[in-house]
Amino acid sequence: MKKQTISFELTVFDSIEELNGKDMDLMQRALETREDAYAPYSNFMVGAAVLLDNGAIVIGNNQENASYPSGLCAERVAVFQASAKYPGVGIKSIAITARSTMHVVQKPAAPCGNCRQAISEYEYKQKSPIELLLMGEEGKVLKCNSLADILPLGFNKSYL
Ligand code: THU
Repeated sequence: MKKQTISFELTVFDSIEELNGKDMDLMQRALETREDAYAPYSNFMVGAAVLLDNGAIVIGNNQENASYPSGLCAERVAVFQASAKYPGVGIKSIAITARSTMHVVQKPAAPCGNCRQAISEYEYKQKSPIELLLMGEEGKVLKCNSLADILPLGFNKSYL
């Protein structure tokens, strides 16, 4: 028997202003699309912008439904749309930001478990890391080097 530790390194920026130009542009797209979220039930609006290997940026925002489980998170709207529009094109990075109409979101919005699993499908398939940029309404911005970092011991098709 032995104990193992799983850890990962991430970069913490004090604000969006500290990001490099490319990352700032991507986060800007996420901020724009966040405003188009359809979130009448949670009032929690999320925007996601996916940068692809071909340079295209595909956006998504959360889409809620009166039958709550029928809604979908911004991240999955974005990555599914990216794969539908540009099948087989790799994903470089995804910028994600959230705001609420009820309170100020002061910490970076990390993808939910279902979205982590959905994004991990593409990361596993393309065999290269997908970077994540996470931001709330204000405060710090986190940059993760790979989706796998935030989904340790993940399930993928190698088990099937
Ligand atoms: N939401 C996202 O869009 N992304 C996440 O990673 C977390 C949650 C959405 C789903 C729902 O519309 C609202 O935020 C509140 O959970």
